[in-house]
Amino acid sequence: MAGRYPAAWLDELRARADIVQTVSAYVPLKKNGRNYWGLCPFHGEKTASFSVSPEKQMYYCFGCKAGGSVIQFIMDIERLSYQEAVALLAERVHMTLPEMREDPNYEQRREQRNRLLALNREAARIFHEQLFTDAGAPMLEYLRKRGVSDAAIRKFGLGAATSSWDQLYQTLRLKDFTEEELRLAGLCVVDEAHDGKPRRVRDMFRQRVIYPIIDQYGNVLAFGGRCMDGRQPKYLNTSDTPVFNKRLGVYAANLLRKERGLERVILVEGYMDVVALTQFGVRGVCATLGTALTPEQARLLKRFAPKVYLAYDGDSAGQHAILRGLDILAAENIPARVLDFPDGLDPDEFIRRDGPEAFEHLPVLLPEAYRIRRLADSFDLSAQDGRIEYAKACAPILRDLEPVDLEAQLQRLTVQTGFSREVLLEQIGRSAPVQKPTLPQRSHRYEERQTPPGQNPERVRAEETLISLFSTGQLPKDIAEEKDFEDPLLNSLYVALKEGASAPALIEAQETEADRARVSRLLQLPVGRDTDEMLLMARQCLTRLRRSRIEERIDAIQRDINHLEGAEKERAMAEYLALGQSLIELK
Ligand code: UTP
Ligand code: MN
Repeated sequence: MAGRYPAAWLDELRARADIVQTVSAYVPLKKNGRNYWGLCPFHGEKTASFSVSPEKQMYYCFGCKAGGSVIQFIMDIERLSYQEAVALLAERVHMTLPEMREDPNYEQRREQRNRLLALNREAARIFHEQLFTDAGAPMLEYLRKRGVSDAAIRKFGLGAATSSWDQLYQTLRLKDFTEEELRLAGLCVVDEAHDGKPRRVRDMFRQRVIYPIIDQYGNVLAFGGRCMDGRQPKYLNTSDTPVFNKRLGVYAANLLRKERGLERVILVEGYMDVVALTQFGVRGVCATLGTALTPEQARLLKRFAPKVYLAYDGDSAGQHAILRGLDILAAENIPARVLDFPDGLDPDEFIRRDGPEAFEHLPVLLPEAYRIRRLADSFDLSAQDGRIEYAKACAPILRDLEPVDLEAQLQRLTVQTGFSREVLLEQIGRSAPVQKPTLPQRSHRYEERQTPPGQNPERVRAEETLISLFSTGQLPKDIAEEKDFEDPLLNSLYVALKEGASAPALIEAQETEADRARVSRLLQLPVGRDTDEMLLMARQCLTRLRRSRIEERIDAIQRDINHLEGAEKERAMAEYLALGQSLIELK
């Protein structure tokens, strides 16, 4: 993962984005001993078990075992990918991304991006203010009629585009934004002169309620505008611009980012659905931006919660979109559920009609349950043929269900088709009480690894302590040898430390989360008070390791020696004696 960036560049980034400073912006820290301490931002706690080491430039929580470099911290706290976290930090400390340095237009494009974002922010402010002026009155009235509270209007920064042809354009031109910038941001349209009519620049949005689309960082990327009457399109959205790609983001990402401990993200279709559910106190709601769910959006959602609930409209378009959404989520290995709205309602209509309590009690369907429910619509269940085909079509969908979930679906199917439970099970191919290989659990992020099989746990512990001691950089490099480390991971850490690798670089070099967690833990283990104490500890560990290995070998020779003959037996005897000698020397 770190391979994209030169090691030296990353070192500089980590050094400039000093971890104590970076973390302090999110967590109040207090110095105690060598480290800084605070309340862990990743799990609820009352006593500080979250430590930040300025020497090693890393953090570690002794409570939830979260840990890593400054980059990992930004990934976790801002819910960013590795690349995005690097980009964010680079921006903060004014470093140019390596790939950008080679691009001669990079500075220019960055400047343009920043200008367009500033322009959008200004436009959003103007739209919002206009909502409370005379020209915005129809839009405000519309929102009120739909039951949108003032608090929700503020929370989402809703606004009004007035009926003027070019008021926004004129206002923003006075603020020194160029026509070109306004056009690029999708805020105005240029009609070239034709048929004797003069060239004209007009606003893109007129007489519409404006929903600003804001990303996780709080940037205003684009706008959606809903008309007040039957005009088409009902929703006008900013097309893709240099700062906006509708396939990559979701509406209300700025609010999602602030949620902690979400169990699920609720994905809806419409802006108004997000506003309504949020207003009624439902957390973690967002919407795609007028397109079907994309893999990029699915991966984005995964950062905010472990599960995604699809809460699309009850109409046929919405129901079709659910099947596609389930496919996308399955392809990304994201557990999904479907919220089942009655009477073809959309979430906004439902929560207003039945209230938030009813929303919390809506049926939550497993993807399989939803799929077979949909299948039922394509067969004529009043005819025997239809019931047979339906049962056959359901079988492959149910094959991988957990036993209890399968049982629930079977009950339904027996009623629908008239086939007995046993017949259905046989069709599914699971007649015997099913022994299903348990699905690999999504490994918990900070899970500690067990001692690898075949390794002596005591020795692994001694090797780990040695690595912790080494990572302080205060031990002579030649005190140990490569062969002292049997555990492959610890061995590679020793080699890297000897070559001068920094602690954060070691963590980022790990391929799996389990390894990263293990390395974070090792590098943050408390070690001795001073160099003398550390040296003493290291020597003790080494003695223990080496002795244990010799003893193991002696045991093996004792076991085997009676079966050996001739030269082999003599070699074994010699080794036996030599081992005994080194054991004495060690003591
Ligand atoms: P809907 O037509 O279901 O609208 O479109 P809605 O959310 O229920 O809106 P209200 O309640 O009538 O105000 C769902 C979403 O599809 C996109 C928008 O993002 C909308 O919120 N859409 C719809 C468009 O982009 N353009 C359109 O013309 C219609
Ligand atoms: Mn609606």
